[in-house]
Amino acid sequence: MAQLWGGRFTKQTDQLVYDFNASITFDQRFYKQDIEGSVAHVVMMAQQGMLTQEEMKQIVEGLKGIQEDVESGKLQITKEYEDIHSFVEANLIDRIGQVGKKLHTGRSRNDQVALDMKLYVRVGVLEIEALVRELLEVLLHIMEENTQTYMPGFTHLQKAQPVTLAHHLGAYFEMFKRDRERLQDVFKRMNYCPLGAGALAGTTYPLDRNRTAELMGFYGPTLNSMDSVSDRDYVLELLSACSIIMMHLSRFSEEIIIWNSNEYQFVEIDDAFSTGSSIMPQKKNPDIAELVRGKTGRVYGSLMALLTTMKGLPLAYNKDMQEDKEWTFDALDTVKKCIQLFTGMLSTMKFRRDVMETSAKNGFTNATDAADYLVNHGVPFRDAHGIVGRLVLYCIEQNKALDDMTLEEFKSISPVFEEDIYDAISLKTCVDKRITLGAPGKSVMEQVIEQNKQYLGNE
Ligand code: ARG
Repeated sequence: MAQLWGGRFTKQTDQLVYDFNASITFDQRFYKQDIEGSVAHVVMMAQQGMLTQEEMKQIVEGLKGIQEDVESGKLQITKEYEDIHSFVEANLIDRIGQVGKKLHTGRSRNDQVALDMKLYVRVGVLEIEALVRELLEVLLHIMEENTQTYMPGFTHLQKAQPVTLAHHLGAYFEMFKRDRERLQDVFKRMNYCPLGAGALAGTTYPLDRNRTAELMGFYGPTLNSMDSVSDRDYVLELLSACSIIMMHLSRFSEEIIIWNSNEYQFVEIDDAFSTGSSIMPQKKNPDIAELVRGKTGRVYGSLMALLTTMKGLPLAYNKDMQEDKEWTFDALDTVKKCIQLFTGMLSTMKFRRDVMETSAKNGFTNATDAADYLVNHGVPFRDAHGIVGRLVLYCIEQNKALDDMTLEEFKSISPVFEEDIYDAISLKTCVDKRITLGAPGKSVMEQVIEQNKQYLGNE
């Protein structure tokens, strides 16, 4: 047991207590952040005259040496230390002796862990944001190539009106764009440095908190020391943004699973992103999409767990907050992997344009347009709705599509129909006439794609 305290104790810690309390098994993940924070702290202390230049140099070199040795595998982070902070400090003292003991001046593990977590989460926000951006690139590329790939649009999972693949995927583009903006927003709000808050009430040493904040790329220091050590809002905001990302990925996965089914066959998932069955040789399963859908629950779980942990905590630091780490690490790993795999699956997936188009033709998705045709020829909409309803019933009995009816058949139901009905209800017309902003019509879709290209290019 290597711990940073013990002076006021007369007994050894019980082993079970020690193990229960220790966090080294998971907080070793942020050894780099812990060292980064310590380096900034000593550089600032030297500037403030709290350390000599020589002491500062020795400590910084010692810390960098620890990082190098951990990264090369020469130095193992073991359970012998209570947490990553103890590990770094104890190793520093082993390496450079007495001067190492000055590192923790004007600092508590409470502001130290608040800083480490923030530095770690900040990297996570940027990594996830970059992955969402890649997904947006892939989506936009597929959209550009499919402004005239007709497919049925659904409501209640029933064919409703024809759209295009570009338009359908464009809906996901908007979702992931908002996700990306949410991440950027989390970053903006969280990027303030808690170091210097001490245990809860700051310190009497002349720390320059602006300087430490600046050294680590923060916008500035946090403004209340009690809040600084007990704030985990930014983790919750990130987990919430991640949960929404997962919800979007899960909905998209569900659609891909449906589209990939034998019944739909709208898409074919690449062999590299599918799996087989141990018993049924014919199977090619969409396991990646299913796992992404499944892992969504896990990320929601992290959010709910941390919200529940934080609820009712009195100010300021409480050990409960140590529980933030495993949930957050797991959620960040999961989201990163899911976006990466999903993007790979999407970029290699084949869209079966012919099947999509046939499906759009065969589900009366042009019924609204047939009614609009009548309205344009002077029939009140309510009557037109009834007439087309009878047309649809007739087609169902005859087992044909609206487009397959002869003009005589059309006329037998309403004399208003003329030869131009065929053009009016063709898929191309149905889609291309929908040119209100946000609709699937090719001209307006191209405008939106252009705008989104600029959005991605303007970084
Ligand atoms: N391992 C602790 C955590 O993750 C570090 C802070 C410990 N501070 C304390 N006063 N026990 O929260």
